[in-house]
This record gives sequence, structure tokens and C-alpha cells, in this order.
Amino acid sequence: MRRPSPISTPIALSPSAVPHPDARILAALRASGETGASGADLAKQLKVSRAAIWARIEDLRRAGYDIVASPHHGYVLRATPDVLHADDILSRLDEPRLIAREVQVFQETSSTNEIVDRLARDGVPEGVVVFAEAQTAGRGRLGRRWFSPPGRGLWFSVLLRPPLRPQAATQLTVISAVAVARGIERETGLHPGIKWPNDIVFGERKCGGILLELGAELDHIRHVVLGIGIDVNVAAGEFPAEIQETATSLSEQAGRPLDRTALAVAILRELEAAYARLRRGDFHEVSDEWVRRCTTLGRGVRIQMGGRLIIGTAEALDEEGALLVRTPHGRLERIVGGDVTLEKRSTDQPLSVP
Ligand code: BTN
Repeated sequence: MRRPSPISTPIALSPSAVPHPDARILAALRASGETGASGADLAKQLKVSRAAIWARIEDLRRAGYDIVASPHHGYVLRATPDVLHADDILSRLDEPRLIAREVQVFQETSSTNEIVDRLARDGVPEGVVVFAEAQTAGRGRLGRRWFSPPGRGLWFSVLLRPPLRPQAATQLTVISAVAVARGIERETGLHPGIKWPNDIVFGERKCGGILLELGAELDHIRHVVLGIGIDVNVAAGEFPAEIQETATSLSEQAGRPLDRTALAVAILRELEAAYARLRRGDFHEVSDEWVRRCTTLGRGVRIQMGGRLIIGTAEALDEEGALLVRTPHGRLERIVGGDVTLEKRSTDQPLSVP
């Protein structure tokens, strides 16, 4: 089967003298603001000819970047399109970094988790991030499909190789959920909650989820594919009928369309910080924040784990990220997966009228 090719710089570092020239041009244009950057300055910075700069600028314009050229100011970046562009994402991230060391964007693919899984098996080092504008077979937890329409969301996967035992993989779900919630908050001003283990929610409605897929030996993780899906600019009526009642999007919550690239960058930055803490052994710092944001703790829950139904109250998170649920018999159950339904709060119940 032919692999779909990304619409931007491929993973293998290009043999050219200047890796990611478009990222460097966009970063320079952003830094120069209204003053603009001359072709000569850009050529000097990138150590290429002015003609090469002009060709790159033309390419960016074709991709939808509104770049004007004035004789006095040189090139000025006026507006960016609502498309995911690997070099634009790279141009906004700090160096050095581990997460988003390399970024690929596909116009359409089956599932970004599938692409990253292949990269992992090919031995690509951790940190690579793959986005898709649309997924034709987006995967959700528990074998569900993930609705991934073109240009409306952030559908992406990150390759990680954490120094963890497979039993502690839930820690990654926890730190990722915190990073996503923080990124959303920073970029949009919205305050999302987290439903265990990985749903990003507003009240009872879900706007994002995380799918962790592991390649592991008995005692260590070989690689993790961290798949993140966020409904950014999906209109309420666009969700498939079966999730109309339970799904929401960030634009619906904010009441305005949102900038997907800026949001992606904010989340990748938070992920970098949270993953660094996890690698330093400071999981508890992130999990404390998870607890503060969690909408599950203290609630009555029903958890379907394979053929088993566990009913109880979600009491705490343990040091590996598992949910501890107190059953009506007083037993503490340790939950590492499954489908969690929150019981209605007593205040949610309609008042009975005599
Ligand atoms: C969930 O069920 O809540 C998890 C959803 C995860 C969806 C994302 S979208 C990007 C990545 N690729 C996939 O096929 N799934 C994940």
C-alpha cells in the first residue's frame, strides 16, 4: 500500500543547508511586524540568495499567507490562513525542544496514530508530531470512531519514548490531559475540565479526547503514540447524530471561531513542559493540577471494564495515574481503563413536586 505523503517538509531532515526555510522566514516576518523584513536581510539571515527567498515567499502566498512587499518596508506578513502548516507551527515554537522536534501535516490520512505508529516501528526518535486536516478512520478509545472533519479541529499524534513501566502509562494520559486543558485555557481563555481519564469537557459535554497506544515489553515501554483530538471549529449541527447531545466544540463555547495553529502551538508548549516534569520524576506536580481540574473526583461513577461493571465514588488518583473508586461495600478499586459514566449529581435531579 502506498503511504500518503505529507503536504509539508518530510520527516527526514532535508539535506539542504537551511532546514525549514519557511519556518525561519515566517519567524523573521513575525518578529519584524509592520516594519517588515527586506529580501536582502532575509537572504542574509538564511544564507541563501534573494531569489531563493522570493521563491519561498511565493510558495507561502500560494499556501494562503498574505505577505505584501513594499519597496520601503520589504515583506510584511498581514494574515495567516486557517490551514495547518508544519513550518508555521515550527516557527512559533521555542528552541531547544523535544516535542515537535519535527512536524508533519497531512491533508488527509486514515489516522495520525497509524502514521506515528509506523514511524515508531521504523525507529524514529521521540518528539515527532503528525497532524492531519482530516482523518478518514480516526480512532477513539474503546474501538470507537473519532469524527475528524476537514479543517475543523486538531487531529494529531505525538511519538514518545518515556522511561516508564507499562503499568505507569496512565501517567501520560494524565499529563497530556493537563497540557491540553492548559493550552486551551492559555489560548482561548476558556476553562475546560477533565473527565477521567482523558476527556476534555465543558460541563457534561466533551470537546476533546486522548488515545494512548503503547508498544511495550513486559517491563518497559518501547514507544507511545499519543493521539489528541480536539473539536475546535465544529459547528453544533455538524456533529454526527449519535454524539449531538454529548459533544461540543471550543468555538461553540467561545462564541467565535478560533485560530487552530495558535492553539496547536499552545498545547505543544504545555506538553513539552509537562513531559519534562514527568521525565524528571515530578509526575505529582502535574497530577495535582489534574486533580484540581478533574470533574470526576467526588462523583458517583459507573465503570464498564470489559465484562465487569464497577459502581462507586471516584475518590482519588494514585501515583501511577489510576483512578481509585470506593464501592458501596467500602472496597477501593483501582481503575486503569474502561468507560466511565458519571452519575447525575443529586442537585441535577429534578425536584419532586408533591
Ligand atoms: C477518545 O476516544 O476520547 C480519544 C480520541 C482521540 C482522537 C485522536 S485524533 C488524532 C489521533 N488519531 C486518531 O485516530 N485518534 C487520535
